Amino acid sequence: MKAIIAGTGIDKDKRFYSSMKAIETPFGSVEYAQIDGIIYLPRHCPGHTLLPHMINYRANVKALEMLGVDEVITVYAVGSITRRLSPGRIGLVRDFIDFTSGRKNTFSDTDSSIRHTPFVSPFDFPLMERVARAASDLSIPISYNKIVYITTNGPRLETPAEIEAFRILGADVVGMTLATEAALIHELGIKNASLAYSINWAAGLDAEGFSFLEDESIERIARTIMDIAIKALESSI
Ligand code: HPA
Repeated sequence: MKAIIAGTGIDKDKRFYSSMKAIETPFGSVEYAQIDGIIYLPRHCPGHTLLPHMINYRANVKALEMLGVDEVITVYAVGSITRRLSPGRIGLVRDFIDFTSGRKNTFSDTDSSIRHTPFVSPFDFPLMERVARAASDLSIPISYNKIVYITTNGPRLETPAEIEAFRILGADVVGMTLATEAALIHELGIKNASLAYSINWAAGLDAEGFSFLEDESIERIARTIMDIAIKALESSI
C-alpha cells in the first residue's frame, strides 16, 4: 500500500473528503481517504484543525503501518532560508535538523524492539528518484539541491535572529512538522520521500516585510505537488 501525508494547502482540497474513513490506533483515531489504491492522510486532520504542536504524529504514522503502507510521500509547506528553495518552488528534502521539544517523537517507549534507529539516510533514495522522474515526466521543475529542513516547535513563527542562526547551522528551509513525522516513519521502516514547497521567505529575509504567498498560489502549488506524488507512487502500484 502507498500513502501521501499532506499538509497546508492540500488539506483544503475537497476532492479528498468525499470518502473519509477512520482507523483506531493504540494512540488514537486517524481519518484518511483511500483513492485509487493510495491512502491520503491529512496531517492536520480534515479541514486543517490542528496546529503542528498539537498533531498526533504517532497515531498518524501508526495508522500507515496498520494499513500496510510500505512507501509514503510526505508533503510540507515551508519558509525559505536559502536560495536552494525559493518561495514558489518545490524541492526534495535530503536531511533534517530537529529543534522541537516535548513531542512524542518515538515509538521506543511503547515497543522495546526499537532502540537507537540510525538516521544516516532518513529518506529513501530510490523513492526520491521516482519522485524526481515523475516531476520530470510532468515537466514540473523541482529542486534536488540537498535541501535541509529545520523543524521548530511552533506555533509561533521565528525571529530574524533565529533564522540567521538556523542558516549558519546549515538549514535551507524551516517548518514545524517534518522532523517529528520523518523520525517516526523511519523508526517503523516505512520508505519516505519528502517534498517541500516554499510559501514565504523566513523572518527577516524579505526586504518588503514578512508575507506568505496568496492562498490561490499555495493551493495551485499544492495540487501540482499532489500530481507529482500520485504519479511517483502509481509507478509501483
Ligand atoms: N516558519 C515556520 N514554518 C513555516 C514557515 C516559516 O516561515 N512557512 C511555512 N511553514
